[in-house]
Amino acid sequence: MKKKISLLLALIMVFSVILTACGSNDANVGDTSDKGNGTQVENGGNGQLTVQDIKDKGTIVLGTSADYPPFEFHAMINGKDEIVGFDIELAKYIADELGVELEIRDMDFDKLLGALATGMVDMVIAGMNPDPEREANFTDIYYEANLAVLIHKDNADKITKMEDLEGKSIGVQIGTIQEEVAKEEIKDAEVKSLGTNPDIVMNLMTNKIDCAIMETPVAESYAQVNEDIIVVEGLNFDIDSGGVAIAVKKGNDELTEKLNEIIAAAKEEGLLEKWFVEANELVNESL
Ligand code: ARG
Repeated sequence: MKKKISLLLALIMVFSVILTACGSNDANVGDTSDKGNGTQVENGGNGQLTVQDIKDKGTIVLGTSADYPPFEFHAMINGKDEIVGFDIELAKYIADELGVELEIRDMDFDKLLGALATGMVDMVIAGMNPDPEREANFTDIYYEANLAVLIHKDNADKITKMEDLEGKSIGVQIGTIQEEVAKEEIKDAEVKSLGTNPDIVMNLMTNKIDCAIMETPVAESYAQVNEDIIVVEGLNFDIDSGGVAIAVKKGNDELTEKLNEIIAAAKEEGLLEKWFVEANELVNESL
């Protein structure tokens, strides 16, 4: 019985290899079976994009939400609007290591995991916490960060400690850990979920909300470039997944492994620190 099953499995494998081979022939003549967005070349085996698939198509598609300095943000570089930041440097390094081009798709944060699931993007680098409830595979953490509270400077005396947040209106980005924290950990909070971080900052500046919760480096970036807003000193949240990781499609262990190797190499070369410093400089110069 066992033998029969393994014979059957072997046959299935042979067939899928043949099918994959046919598939890539099609791709060569420009007629991929994917009529959707033309980027997803799927491996016949388990429907997962392999490292080889990425090399074959010559491009890795990054999904990000460029409203999150210093991780990813829009900046005018030589008169041109570009998406830059710490995560973008990491993405470029990954593309280089794989020997492919980097294509960036910018979207709202809460759309990223859907884009990953449908194959519209190959990986998500967006200052994302590897929350186990998220439908994705996560790499190792590449940056540790916690959450901070951002306020209008006029409120400096009113919000100094955790209890001061009770009953306050709190701005957070939709679909983020911050939204969860505000809803679950702050008593009687009036949580205002907004699409983007610049929206949150605008609401703060015009006193439409009392405070905002953001990842510490992001809160600091906005405070750096806006003299009306400040980060509340000593008011930090410790969250379980206090670090950010790259997300790939759920179950894509091969790509996860490869990205872990690349992250480890970047860490070893001291590149992560360097990119972080550079991204912060860019926030000051161009935001
Ligand atoms: N770290 C938070 C989370 O994973 C927020 C990330 C928001 N990222 C962004 N690019 N807007 O939920």
